[in-house]
Amino acid sequence: MRFAGREPGSDAQSVAGKLALERALERGVNFVHSSFEYGTRWAMGEVMRSHSKRHDLHHVIKVPVPDFDDGGVFDKAKFRTRVEEALRELHTDRIAVLQHLQRFRPNSDDNRIPNISAVNEPMMEIFEKLREEGKVGYLTTFPYTTDFARSAMGTGCFSGIVAYYNTIEMEMSEFFDDLQEKGQGFLCIRPFMAGLLTDRRADRKVLPLEDRNQDDLWDEAYGRLELIQAAMGDQVTSWTSFAIKFALIHPVVTSLIVGLNSVEQVDQVLDAADGIYPDRGVFYAAREIFRDHGAVVAP
Ligand SMILES: NC(=O)c1ccc[n+]([C@@H]2O[C@H](COP(=O)([O-])OP(=O)(O)OC[C@H]3O[C@@H](n4cnc5c(N)ncnc54)[C@H](OP(=O)(O)O)[C@@H]3O)[C@@H](O)[C@H]2O)c1
Repeated sequence: MRFAGREPGSDAQSVAGKLALERALERGVNFVHSSFEYGTRWAMGEVMRSHSKRHDLHHVIKVPVPDFDDGGVFDKAKFRTRVEEALRELHTDRIAVLQHLQRFRPNSDDNRIPNISAVNEPMMEIFEKLREEGKVGYLTTFPYTTDFARSAMGTGCFSGIVAYYNTIEMEMSEFFDDLQEKGQGFLCIRPFMAGLLTDRRADRKVLPLEDRNQDDLWDEAYGRLELIQAAMGDQVTSWTSFAIKFALIHPVVTSLIVGLNSVEQVDQVLDAADGIYPDRGVFYAAREIFRDHGAVVAP
């Protein structure tokens, strides 16, 4: 999402981002998240166009249909466009996972949940057609809320959930055991909570004042981090390492969708995925804090 500029160019961010992607592929990363909304596929395309591992990659893309301003009306042509443009821009023959977002303005469950069946019926028709054409693999939901997740998964249309998940944002963990039992999957977005749960940002006192996490919107998340730090004690010697391992403790978590903007970040995250993992007790301890204190409102 942030690994390159929104316009093609050779600015420092885009140069570092492309090197990071090359490094990730070189070290064996084979699952890549993208969206037309980020404006960064031009840089992914430059790396992937002639890459020797191009055909080994599995892609997950965002498919927001209906989008915020579509009045809740599902448009098959728009759904297909999101897939076809991704195939073209990512230089691939197949998108492994579609991350469906059912949006509305305002994006409340009151507006979205009653509309699920009206959306899913035509969506499954176009999804099945794309699957027959060999262009897509699995359909998952990015539910925004647990109530929506419950209703959407109840339809049987989705093979899994894609959502935020880290020591602070544990809402969706209530579905983990059920997903696992059904042979479905969970893709974890933002295991660092947008960078907060790293050695660079976990201690807010040492962060430059202009850092994005100095915004008041992050106050509540830092408050929760203090509670978690107290509970975890000396189990956390490095937040960067702990956050990655934590997100992978539960076996239903199929993969992590983590923002990596430099070669150094790629190396640190892939190194963090190695080594000894905390046991399941750490997952339960963090979930207890989450259940006792409720969800955190964060950007
Ligand atoms: N609705 C959706 O579908 C949705 C929403 C949000 C995100 N996403 C996807 O999820 C991905 C991850 O989300 P995210 O980037 O917000 O959260 P994240 O993965 O939790 O955090 C990534 C950020 O952490 C920092 N970082 C990475 N490696 C680091 C390291 N080794 N040490 C210190 N800091 C490190 C980087 O920030 P700096 O480089 O700025 O330090 C990076 O941008 C996005 O790129 C996007 O593809 C999807």
